[in-house]
Amino acid sequence: MRKKFIIGNWKMNLTLGEAQDLVFKLKNFMKGKNSTDVAVCPPYTYLLTLSNILKDSNILIGAQNMFHKEEGAFTGEISPVMLKDLNVIMVILGHSERRQIFHETDQDVNLKIKCALKFGFMPVFCVGEDFNTREKGKAEDWVKNQILEGIKDLKAEEIEKLIIAYEPIWAIGTGKICSGEDANKIIKMIRETIKLKSNDSIAQKVRILYGGSIKASNFQEHIKYPDIDGGLVGGTSLIFEEFSKVIDLASASNVHALHQSHPV
Ligand code: PGA
Repeated sequence: MRKKFIIGNWKMNLTLGEAQDLVFKLKNFMKGKNSTDVAVCPPYTYLLTLSNILKDSNILIGAQNMFHKEEGAFTGEISPVMLKDLNVIMVILGHSERRQIFHETDQDVNLKIKCALKFGFMPVFCVGEDFNTREKGKAEDWVKNQILEGIKDLKAEEIEKLIIAYEPIWAIGTGKICSGEDANKIIKMIRETIKLKSNDSIAQKVRILYGGSIKASNFQEHIKYPDIDGGLVGGTSLIFEEFSKVIDLASASNVHALHQSHPV
């Protein structure tokens, strides 16, 4: 059974003081809880302080982006070597805000994934269609193509190291949630695509998350689907009371699945 994973994508939010306050609360909340993996991805400038706070905890820390070169004349960019120094273990790549606002292409994302793997990071590879693509009935084709381009030239054992996040762009930060049924359908297709490019055992191991307007009040509907392995949570991850409830929902669904697979 795949362990559920809840990842907070803080984007460009919070002051350092607020960020510290939030991780102290989360660290306390997560004490003794190990049924769901949890990670936070704060802005770069908070990574060192927060990774020190979290180093003796069960909460992982990630960056929201990374450049695919080790060093050089790339003003404003952050290299994998720099992130390694900060004890970062994962990195979000190909988020739709990077693709749309900063014009990252599928090829850029592919280079970044390869680089992240080379440096031993856990890449959180994001894909998702925009509203027009969904309206035209092309969401599956679009996402499949993003997956194939993103994992191009990766070996099966590298594909196994990915976390994938399906985040329909029209559902990000809009309050419009993609239904659990629709998200599960796309995620199933992603798993099939992974299987074609690796094998069934790897496809069964890779965790594929949903993202887009997740709240404590709507996540139950998603996490009950067998192919949805957790959530990439934006706005809600900034509010401790809400984010902790999302984690609890994921943990409860693990227990439920366990009981189903081992009836007493
Ligand atoms: P949201 O963002 O939860 O605020 O919609 C999700 C994301 O962009 O990862």
